[in-house]
Amino acid sequence: MAQFSDRLPGRQGLNTLGSELALARSSGRRIINLADSNPGSCGLSVPGAIETLAHADTGRYVPDPRGIPLAREALSGRFGGSARDYFLSASTSEAYSWLFKLLCNPGDAVLVPKPGYPLFDYLAGLESVRAEPYRLEYHHPGPWRIDLDHLRDRALGTGAKALVLIHPNNPTGSYVALDERQAILELCGETGMAIIADEVFLPYRLEAEGQPESFGGEGCVLVFALDGLSKMLGLPQFKLGWMRLSGPAAALAEAEDKLEIIADTYLSVGAPVMNALPALLAKADTFIQDLRFRLQANLDCARAILGSGDSPYRVLRCDGGWTAMVEYPRVCTDEELSLGLLREAGLYVHPGYFFDTERDGYLAISLILEQGLFSEGLDLLRSHLDGLLA
Ligand SMILES: Cc1ncc(COP(=O)(O)O)c(C=O)c1O
Repeated sequence: MAQFSDRLPGRQGLNTLGSELALARSSGRRIINLADSNPGSCGLSVPGAIETLAHADTGRYVPDPRGIPLAREALSGRFGGSARDYFLSASTSEAYSWLFKLLCNPGDAVLVPKPGYPLFDYLAGLESVRAEPYRLEYHHPGPWRIDLDHLRDRALGTGAKALVLIHPNNPTGSYVALDERQAILELCGETGMAIIADEVFLPYRLEAEGQPESFGGEGCVLVFALDGLSKMLGLPQFKLGWMRLSGPAAALAEAEDKLEIIADTYLSVGAPVMNALPALLAKADTFIQDLRFRLQANLDCARAILGSGDSPYRVLRCDGGWTAMVEYPRVCTDEELSLGLLREAGLYVHPGYFFDTERDGYLAISLILEQGLFSEGLDLLRSHLDGLLA
């Protein structure tokens, strides 16, 4: 009999919602995907991006575990620090896998936010690491806050090697607030946990007051600040992410040496995109500004359609990012609502449980959709919800 690693789950089919979506699509029925987070299918593009890949130096191969100096210099020019502080990888997801290898032994824990990005169980599991949740809580009118007592208990109780901060978090749209940051730095100083700060949505500020600061360059504990082209330019297909390392000198030097071994083992980033990075970064401000405009317009539209007057629905405060959360009275489970929306309204949304919300009554919607389609979807959502409550 064939034998496989325990790191992988047993054979799984699609969940009910996934199967229904596949079925609806194969029938040719029009479905509005209010969970779409693929920039390409939402009509977002970067003029001239493909052309940047035809760089004269791409024919030469000069392997460097950190990524070619030209690309790292462009990153330090834009985000600060020196070119040596940066390591390139094929994506943020790959950066996580390298960092879990760097920081954890099999069976060790890393702390991840809940509600949060659903890929962590896999990212951690594939490195034989446990993703242990810490709680974020929402009290109207928000914002979401990290439950710092819970975080501390989890850190001490699990002996976690790293704390993952998503800044701002997906799907809660919450940045790490200044007082939370201070408490976290103290906790990490005390326990030795490294910080992995995922900042792929950092520049997409919506309702936060003022632009929150990056963790990049923070010097008192070991910090890995992650970012990449996937969200900064809506180019996940270009496969380029990076991390910026900082921290106390001795720990930093050791982390760099060991990370070089990991990165050198894979050398996974392609030369075309590394050579193109300076030209691509020059396009980032325009892309971010245009997309922020769309995100804000869609958030305003969602509030106008769902949240006006004495509406029983609520669009939760969304400080930044590409996703908003909607709260509705619990007349059914999130799964029943999502299935009903798909079957009866031709609308696909992500139920809250995809992101491990603590209870039913939430769904998540993507704000990157083209504005006309987004408002059409929101109208359908409102009338379906109204029908359930009638
Ligand atoms: C918080 C967060 N980090 C990272 C990623 C993935 O980025 P990449 O394409 O660079 O792996 C996503 C994708 O949605 C995300 O939501």
